[in-house]
Amino acid sequence: MVLRMPKKIRVGIIFGGKSSEHEVSLASAASIIASIDQDKYEIVPIGITKTGRWVLGEGAKKLIPQKVIEAGRPILIPPDPQVKEILPMPVPSESRGGSTASLAHRPSRGPLESNAIDVVFPVLHGRFGEDGTIQGLLELAGIPYVGGGVLASAVGMDKDVMKRLFRDAGLPVPKFLVFRAEDLNSHRATSKRRIASMIRFPCFVKPANSGSSVGIHKAHSVRELDRALADALRYDEKVLVEEGIVGREIECSVLGNQSPLASVPGEVIPIHEFYDYEAKYIDEGSRLIIPAKLTKAQVKRIRGLAVAAYKALDCTGMARVDFFLEKPSDKVYVNEINTIPGFTKISMYPKLWEASGISYTELIDRLLQLAMERHKSRARLICSYERPEPTDPE
Ligand SMILES: Nc1ncnc2c1ncn2[C@@H]1O[C@H](COP(=O)(O)OP(=O)(O)O)[C@@H](O)[C@H]1O
Ligand SMILES: [Mg+2]
Repeated sequence: MVLRMPKKIRVGIIFGGKSSEHEVSLASAASIIASIDQDKYEIVPIGITKTGRWVLGEGAKKLIPQKVIEAGRPILIPPDPQVKEILPMPVPSESRGGSTASLAHRPSRGPLESNAIDVVFPVLHGRFGEDGTIQGLLELAGIPYVGGGVLASAVGMDKDVMKRLFRDAGLPVPKFLVFRAEDLNSHRATSKRRIASMIRFPCFVKPANSGSSVGIHKAHSVRELDRALADALRYDEKVLVEEGIVGREIECSVLGNQSPLASVPGEVIPIHEFYDYEAKYIDEGSRLIIPAKLTKAQVKRIRGLAVAAYKALDCTGMARVDFFLEKPSDKVYVNEINTIPGFTKISMYPKLWEASGISYTELIDRLLQLAMERHKSRARLICSYERPEPTDPE
């Protein structure tokens, strides 16, 4: 009797990207590639350079510096100029009924052919990856992918819209104001007066679309606001000014589609005054406490809020929900959601699942299965009008 091995599932891992979180993505991808269940899955690496060009196969692997693979965490190394960029940014040139042939430029039959890849794990953080753009491309291509869909990804990326949806769902969020570049440029004094009358100092100034604390500043006085606003405006045309919460930073991982589960919460203790870019990736000394030292009631509250925040944005697959636990009031605030959280083996998202009983390799497996399940259930939806069954007369 000949036993035929089941066909391996081909997983496209898309990493890198035109984002300030490029290096974080390389480290996450390296971890996933090293830990995925190789008996079940076959990896197709797809790298995107910092300039937005797509690199395939061995060239893609070369985007990840050896040092990052060894360290298992993000290291800021300038990109290797030797890496050959063989594909231009894919542009859907024509609609072919869900086929993806048009996405890869001819004559090269790229890996985004629907018969070449069964599922994609986009390991892209920040803009052009976590924000619905790549998700939209994959939707058009008809390929299942890990994580939130276009809507959840896009609103999860925009701190203004995200927080308004949280507030609408009755979730506690710190008080915030939103300003557009034109308001700030032409009415700077009025805007500053509005901030001073409505927001308690110290406050946080954030580009609406950012991540990894890039462009985020803590302003202790109206005087410090100017510099903070000017810098935040370099990253986005919309900025938030948010009341600072004094307390602890707690994070909770969520996993699932229709019935999401929340992990045990963890705590971040930043080495700096707040969890800025350097405290996250450059200066060693920030600590992750897993599980966080919390009372049973606090854990219950945080896990409940994490699932509520996830549902408020229509998330699927995964997300990490971040909180502030205010001292001494014990009040919990939802800060933000990350739809593609850091995914190295030592990152908070997988670490919290490990502490909740799901290993890193199993987590990757579950996420890929969730992606394929979501795709299957959405494929069942009809997309043309069908007359509903007539109801029986009473
Ligand atoms: N309202 C706030 N009160 C206290 N600290 C804050 C507040 N907003 C942001 N921070 C600090 O700034 C960090 C980054 O802000 P966050 O909104 O999480 O942006 P990012 O998406 O870049 O992580 C947080 O982890 C926290 O240390
Ligand atoms: Mg954050």
